[in-house]
Amino acid sequence: MARPVQSAYLDALRMVNTQNSYYARRDYAADEAEATRRVAAALGAHEDEIVITRNATEAAHNLIRQYRGLGQGDAVLLADVDYPGFKSHMHWLAAGRGVRVIEIQMPTWANQAEILRLYLDAFDANPDLKLMLVTQVSNQQGLVVPVARITAEAKRRGIDVICDSAQAWGLIDFQVTDLGADWAAFNLHKWIGAPVGTGALYMRRGTLDRIAPYPGEQDFENTKVAARVHPGTFNFASRLAIPAALDFHEAVGSANKEARLRYLRGLWSEAALDMSHLEVLGGSDEESWTGIGSFRLAGKTTIDDAIALQRRLETDFGIFSVVRKGLASGGCVRITPQVFNTPDEMERLVDALAGLAGRA
Ligand SMILES: Cc1ncc(COP(=O)(O)O)c(C=O)c1O
Repeated sequence: MARPVQSAYLDALRMVNTQNSYYARRDYAADEAEATRRVAAALGAHEDEIVITRNATEAAHNLIRQYRGLGQGDAVLLADVDYPGFKSHMHWLAAGRGVRVIEIQMPTWANQAEILRLYLDAFDANPDLKLMLVTQVSNQQGLVVPVARITAEAKRRGIDVICDSAQAWGLIDFQVTDLGADWAAFNLHKWIGAPVGTGALYMRRGTLDRIAPYPGEQDFENTKVAARVHPGTFNFASRLAIPAALDFHEAVGSANKEARLRYLRGLWSEAALDMSHLEVLGGSDEESWTGIGSFRLAGKTTIDDAIALQRRLETDFGIFSVVRKGLASGGCVRITPQVFNTPDEMERLVDALAGLAGRA
C-alpha cells in the first residue's frame, strides 16, 4: 500500500472497529457498491459484471468449480505458465467430471506468434476442448500471453475461457474488454496496491448461465454475478480502501506504471542476456515481456538449483528474490521490481548477476 492507501485503510479499520455491527448492517452494502463501481470503471467493465472477492483465487476457483459445461469426452486446456493453484483446480475439475486435461508446455523463450501457435495447435489437435484457463501474465517469469488473440480463436471454436489476470492488473495497461474472455479473476493487492484481501471476479454479460451459483445461492434468472461467491465475513476495511487504492493507481497512471516497470526490468534483463553463465526466461519480443522476469544459472534447471541461487542472491548480495517452480523448463528465480525501485538498485542487481559467474 502507498501511504494514502494505508491511511484510508487504517481510518476504515478504526471506523469499522468503532461502529461494528451498526455499520455492517446499515451502511456497508452501499460502500461495497461504490467500491464495485470503482473496480468496474477502472477495468472498463459494467458494474453488473463485477463482484469483489477476497483474492484472485476465490474468483478463479469459484469459476472453475462452478463451471457447468463439461461432460464425458470433453477436454480442458491449461499451460505450464499458469498459476499452480489454478492448474491443480483444473485437474480436480477434470478428474471429477471425467474429462481430459491438455497441458501446453511453453519453451524457455518465446514471442507472441510462437505462444499463439502453441495454443492454436492445441485447439486443432483437440476439437473436444470445452474450457480453457489462460494467464495474462505468468507469475513464473512474467511472460505476457496474447490473451485477446487466443480468446478470439477459442471463442470461434466454442471454447469457454477463464482468464487469470491476477498478475496483470496494474502491471500492464489494459481494459478487461480487450481480453475477450468470458470470465476473469483479478486481485487488487498486487499491482493495484490495495490492502491484502481484495480481489474481483469478472463475468461478461451473457455468460452467467454457464457458471452455477455458489452452492446454495439462488439466481434463477442468472443475472447476479454476486451469487457466484459466498465469502462469509471478510475484512470490511480492506474493501473500503479500494477507492483510495484506485485513486492512487490512477494518479500514477496505468501506462506510466507499465513503462516504469518495463524500464526497471530492462536494466537487469538486458545486462543478463549478455552474461553467458545466465539463462533469462520469458518473452523474446517486447510484447511478451513485462516488469517482472526470471532467470537461472545456465543449465541449472532443478528446483534445488533455483533455491540455492535465491539463497546466494540474498546472503551474498543482499537481494531478495523468489523461487518459481511451475515451468516445464525447470526452476528459476523471479525478479520483481516495484515502481519505487531505483535504477541504482537495479545496477546492484546487475553487479550481483555478474558476480554469480564461475560460482555455480
Ligand atoms: C498469476 C497468478 N494467478 C493467481 C494468483 C493468486 O492470487 P491471490 O493470491 O490474489 O489469490 C497469483 C498470486 O500470486 C498469481 O501470481
